[in-house]
This record gives sequence, C-alpha cells and structure tokens, in this order.
Amino acid sequence: MVKVYNFCLASSLIEKLKVQTVHFSEKIIAWYEVNKRTLPWRESGDPYIIWLSEIILQQTRVEQGMPYFYKFIETFPDVKSFAEADEHDILKLWQGLGYYSRARNMYHAALSIVNEFESKFPASFTDLRKLKGVGDYTAAAIASFAYNLPHAVVDGNVYRFLSRHFGIHTPIDSTEGKRQFFLLANKLLDKKKPAIHNQAMMEVGALICTPRNPLCNQCPVNSSCLAFHKKTIGQLPVKSKKTAVKNRYLFYFLILYKNKFIIHKRTGNDIWKNLYDLPLVETSKIIKPEKIFATPGFISIVKESLFRINKISDSITHKLTHQNLHTVFIKLTLEQKNFESGAHMQFVSINNAKKFPFPKLIENYLLQEKVLKP
Ligand code: ADE
Repeated sequence: MVKVYNFCLASSLIEKLKVQTVHFSEKIIAWYEVNKRTLPWRESGDPYIIWLSEIILQQTRVEQGMPYFYKFIETFPDVKSFAEADEHDILKLWQGLGYYSRARNMYHAALSIVNEFESKFPASFTDLRKLKGVGDYTAAAIASFAYNLPHAVVDGNVYRFLSRHFGIHTPIDSTEGKRQFFLLANKLLDKKKPAIHNQAMMEVGALICTPRNPLCNQCPVNSSCLAFHKKTIGQLPVKSKKTAVKNRYLFYFLILYKNKFIIHKRTGNDIWKNLYDLPLVETSKIIKPEKIFATPGFISIVKESLFRINKISDSITHKLTHQNLHTVFIKLTLEQKNFESGAHMQFVSINNAKKFPFPKLIENYLLQEKVLKP
C-alpha cells in the first residue's frame, strides 16, 4: 500500500516538476559553484583518474581516501602502469583502506582495459559497466564526469537527498526503490550539463542533506522539500534490510624463530583474500585461550616442534561490515627451526615483512610487537 502511494507520489512529483526540473538543477548548480570543495579528481577529465577516485571513495570518506588517491596516481600515473604492476603491489598500496575486493577488482579491470580495449579507457556507459567492480553508479560517474554523457549518478548521498526532497519512503535497498530513484534522478538530470549536475547533486547530499543534523536552512531547494515541510527528515531514507553480523573467533599465532616469523597468505573466498596474516585457528564459539593448544588446528600448525609461549593477548574485537572478529594473539618462540610450515606459509625476516600487504588488524599487532617496521 505504502509502496503504491509513494510511487504515485514520485511520478506525480516528476510530472509537476516537468517545468521545474530546470529550476531544480539550476539552483543546485548555482549553489555548487559557490560552495563546492576543491577536490583533485574534480580538476581532471581523465577517466582513469575519475575511476580511481570513485573506487577509492566507495565506502570511504574523502579525507581518508585523499592520501591513497595521491599515492596511487603517483605510483601508477595511467591505466597501463596500473595493469603492469603485481596485484601484490596494489594490495600493499591499498593497505589500511579496507574492502580489499575493490583493489583486486581494479587490477582485474585494468588488465581488461589493456587486453580488450587496447589500453584506452572505455568511453560508453555500456563498456564501462563491463569492467569488474564498476556498477551503475561508477559507470554513470565516469561517463558523466569524463565524457559529459547524460547518465545520472545515484549514490548514498543522492538517495538521501532525493528521498527527503520528494518524500519517498520506498526502501532504497529494494528493487522497486532502486528503480524509482534511478528514474527520478535521470528525469532531474540536466542533459546539457550532466557532469556539473551530478557533482552538485552529490555535493548537496554530502554537505547539506547529511545523515544527521542536515543544514536545511542552507539548502538551495528547501522551498520544495517535502520532508523539510512535513518534518520527516529523520525518517528518511528508508532501508529495509538489517545487515546480519556474524561473530567469528580467531586465534592468531606469532611464531618467532630468531629474527623471523611465519606469515600466511590468505586464499579462498573469505575476507582479506590475497593479503597476508598469521597462522590461525578459528573456533565456532568462545573458548579459553589455554584450550587452543590442544585443538587439532593448533597441532597441525606446530606439529612436533618445541616452542615457548611468550604472551597471550586479551581478546579484541575488530568490526567489519558483516563480521565481528573476536581475536586473541598468541606469541610463541620456536626452540629449533626444524619446523615445516603448512600451505601458503613462509618465514619472513623482520626487515622484509614491510613488503607484504597485511590487513589493519594484523599490521597493528605486528607493529605493537615490533616485528614490523613502521
Ligand atoms: N564521493 C564519491 N564520489 C565523489 C566525488 N566525485 N566527489 C566527492 N565525493 C565523492
């Protein structure tokens, strides 16, 4: 019932706005010209630079992403140099930014640009969509910012801004919601100025129509904002799904011998694929750390080797989007080196460890134990 009402509302608003869409776009663009942040990727029309910035900015704040953006363009000034790198080097540069699939997908996309598009960045929405990790949002961003093509961007900022302005209660994570917001955003788009229109939409969403305490009094289109007038800003946007969070219990072993320790390359379909961590035993529920030494997992790591236990940390919880990692670190010293490390394990010297990409959780621990040099 609510869905139908809202859809009618949205379409009738579009109808009413037929004359006014021009004004809507003009107003936000005028506001943008005066209030926009100077951001390095906005100065560029290079699709490679725009792609890089858009992928970095997915799930990442501008301030956090900025140093990574500079590091990447300095190390890989174009898509060819990016594709010629090792995935390992890209993951190393990405270290600390999280959501590592973004970096792996970028590497895959760079290779396909070189191999399938003769090293030229695809220049249409359809071809951009063929790149790994490039969804509707990113393809529209590159198509409009680099090539001024008329595709409206709909990111989190735009969903929030539109849902409030037009009073749309359809969940933004539902198929119907996605369809409605896509249609609305494209209807509003100034087809003659897609790049600046899109930037302005996102900037109003990011700076004015913020998730909490939006600055409605400074909003260039507050006079036509339904949620502002109905005082329903706090209820919008609507999301239907609650993300299920899984608890995982991880025991990590820092296994030292002289100035070396064992690292483990993560493979398979799990978090941190192709990054490095430490030998690990995962349990299905909380157990006392002392009990870990009798588990088959631990025995398969150390086998017959003699070792000393140096330190057992308290459990710390590292939160990812869908997982809480309850982690205990155990520091051991081997008595002799006749240790056969298992698959994907290797000894690394303290001086060399810096070359490997580690997730933040592991990096912090290794730094704290002074087996990784800053
Ligand atoms: N977030 C995602 N893309 C952005 C962009 N181009 N400018 C500012 N913030 C962004």
